[in-house]
Amino acid sequence: METWEAITARRDVREFSAEPLPAEHLERILEAAWRSPSARNIQPWDFIVVTDREQLEQLSKVWQGGGHIAGAAAAVAIVIDDESDPRGRELIRYDIGQASLQMMVAAADLGIGSGHSSVGDQELARELLGHPEGKILGLIIDFGYPADRPLRPIKRPNRRPFEEVIHRGSW
Ligand SMILES: Cc1cc2nc3c(=O)[nH]c(=O)nc-3n(C[C@H](O)[C@H](O)[C@H](O)COP(=O)(O)O)c2cc1C
Repeated sequence: METWEAITARRDVREFSAEPLPAEHLERILEAAWRSPSARNIQPWDFIVVTDREQLEQLSKVWQGGGHIAGAAAAVAIVIDDESDPRGRELIRYDIGQASLQMMVAAADLGIGSGHSSVGDQELARELLGHPEGKILGLIIDFGYPADRPLRPIKRPNRRPFEEVIHRGSW
């Protein structure tokens, strides 16, 4: 897929087929995360990749909207510092947003679907993933082939109208 195709074909996938991901494709998705830009190149993240079915099922319980993780082929849990300074927190969240999308577009380029999950139960997350105190789970991105239909460019995405959102020169 070309970059533009990958950008326009990416969509939130919440049901995955049982097909596993080729190991080299998962590595590429992880490399996309590793290569992501971050403020002052701090790289305020660690990525824990999970492919074990039972662990995925458990991980799906850290957030009420994370049920789709149970059926994914893989999930990447993004671990960040439990930052108390609001400015630091803001930058970290921005940076993991960039890493998330970079993984998702890299995945779409390979025909692999992806979904987000927020995190509620930090204690369960720590129990499952074993990250140290002072770190928290920021976000989970899960991956797999879509169960419904292959990814293809979406002509009319479900978005606020383009001309309403884009302001030219001033509001
Ligand atoms: C920060 C963030 C958190 C999200 N959390 C969840 C979630 O917990 N569960 C879920 O099913 N979708 C989640 N989503 C997916 C959004 O609902 C989805 O991206 C949005 O509806 C746009 O649809 P699209 O991704 O298909 O373009 C999240 C998205 C973002 C950016």
